[in-house]
Amino acid sequence: MRNVPTNSRNGRLRSAEWFDRKDLDGFLHRSWLKSTGVTDETFRGRPVIGICNSWSELVNCNVHLRGLAESVKRGVLQSGGFPLEFPVTSLGESLMKPTTMLYRNLMAMDVEESIRSYPLDGVVLLTGCDKTNPASIMGAASADIPSIVVTGGPMLNGRWRGREIGSCSDCWHFHEELRAGRITESDWVEIENSMSRSNGHCMTMGTASTMACVTEALGLTLAGGAAIPAVDSRRHQLAEAAGRQIVALVESDLKPSDILTREAFENAIRVLHAISGSTNAILHLIAYAGRVGVELPLQLFDELCASTPWLVDLKPAGRFLMEDFFYAGGVPAVMTQIEDLLHLEAITVSGRTVRENIAGAEIINPEVIRTRAVPLDEGGALVVLGGNLCPDGAVMKISAAEPALHRHEGRAIVFEDVHDLAARVDDPALECDASTVMVLRNAGPVGGPGMPEWGHLPIPAKLLRAGVTDLLRISDARMSGTSYGAVVLHVAPESAVGGPLALVEDGDLIRLDVAERRLDVVVSDAELAERRARWSPPARHDERGYRWLHVDRVLQANEGCDFDFLRGKTRVVEDAVTYL
Ligand code: FES
Repeated sequence: MRNVPTNSRNGRLRSAEWFDRKDLDGFLHRSWLKSTGVTDETFRGRPVIGICNSWSELVNCNVHLRGLAESVKRGVLQSGGFPLEFPVTSLGESLMKPTTMLYRNLMAMDVEESIRSYPLDGVVLLTGCDKTNPASIMGAASADIPSIVVTGGPMLNGRWRGREIGSCSDCWHFHEELRAGRITESDWVEIENSMSRSNGHCMTMGTASTMACVTEALGLTLAGGAAIPAVDSRRHQLAEAAGRQIVALVESDLKPSDILTREAFENAIRVLHAISGSTNAILHLIAYAGRVGVELPLQLFDELCASTPWLVDLKPAGRFLMEDFFYAGGVPAVMTQIEDLLHLEAITVSGRTVRENIAGAEIINPEVIRTRAVPLDEGGALVVLGGNLCPDGAVMKISAAEPALHRHEGRAIVFEDVHDLAARVDDPALECDASTVMVLRNAGPVGGPGMPEWGHLPIPAKLLRAGVTDLLRISDARMSGTSYGAVVLHVAPESAVGGPLALVEDGDLIRLDVAERRLDVVVSDAELAERRARWSPPARHDERGYRWLHVDRVLQANEGCDFDFLRGKTRVVEDAVTYL
């Protein structure tokens, strides 16, 4: 067994170890490949570019990615590469239960091991729905060969009776209207048919749109790519350009670890705040950082929040949708407004710096993307809380919460799990009022399992009917990026592993102070210690298989919910060895 030079920096392609050999193995690799009809001229001496495709008919948001792959292939061929498309596990937010987050790390392993085990010199990652993007990036970051992301793009804006509606912010809104009796069942069906009008991912600034923007801010996709609608021909042009560019990246050996620096992460966090993006991005960015050995404490998100203006007026926090954001100038226009806060010399997959990528970008519609002079808010959108209820942190999207609830005291109603919540939330006998603090436990990475998006607890129907529009809600769950409200999420450590949320009882006073970044239960330490002595962990859901592995090895929310054994990089270079 011997190691070989495997990258172009050393003058030899990684794939050459498979195809440029004179022995029996070389014969086998070439001969079997030729069964597909290709000749030596197609692949010998050319960079082999994997097109890692999360296409699936089970994942509506990614169902158009086969077509996008054809555009990538065109670009690869134009630049002298040899494209090979391959499938990976895909994760569809709307159909997959209990939550795609449970399987993000599984997909990341699939991506990493596919890259690791095949003769690939570079890879283009085709992603779309919420978790397919972070899972692909985590896998590629650990494999660490030249990689470019092409996201599938958002759906066109939804339209109902002349009104623009967004998935899924307006789902929550109209569902509450239905429960309160303000729209009819037939309105509800019409809305269902009017919302999802084309291929693409959700078109609010939900998690998929946020992760696409954050991918662009990190420098992992070509500039301007995040916001192009899925059905706009310019998305195919972007994919073709990515196909050309990945060949250039292989030649220059520019890898994810060269791009995913601390500076790139800080740029991404700045953009996350400026777009008022999804809280889920915090988990994913921390997980990426763990793959490439960058220190990215949860507290950094809060520190950068205070000095980053909120500029993008998209639902769920604002008014517009992704199609409007694209026409308004997209991510490059946002970055020009905050360029004094960015690391402009960070290198990106274009082979150019952030400064070069955004040069000349401008805001086309200042209603959708505010200028720095008139931000939606001076101080950003996402805050990180501490306090005796969340010693390892919790997250709150204050831009989507009723400002009056930023400082609040109220009595807790505790729901043991999501089933308890479903059974009791609309019970007319539920004792609650506008000051109530709803608490959900056993919904974290271990307790869910997989930290489902249950954190946007429904407001009890009797309060909705009384005109209550927001309520303080606290959990160790996540929340859909399309949701809104005074919702505290990602409480760590979670209740299922004995975090303080496990000790809260009905009637306890809970105190939130966003300005002080505190979330506390007003109960003495002695009483909490007594409750802890009586506490026992909930029974595990699974005895075997992947879910058992997940519960056994998943990290807490403040650590990105990666598996402990997946942090760091695969040694792909040393893997490409000759077995004689
Ligand atoms: Fe796929 Fe919303 S369901 S992005």
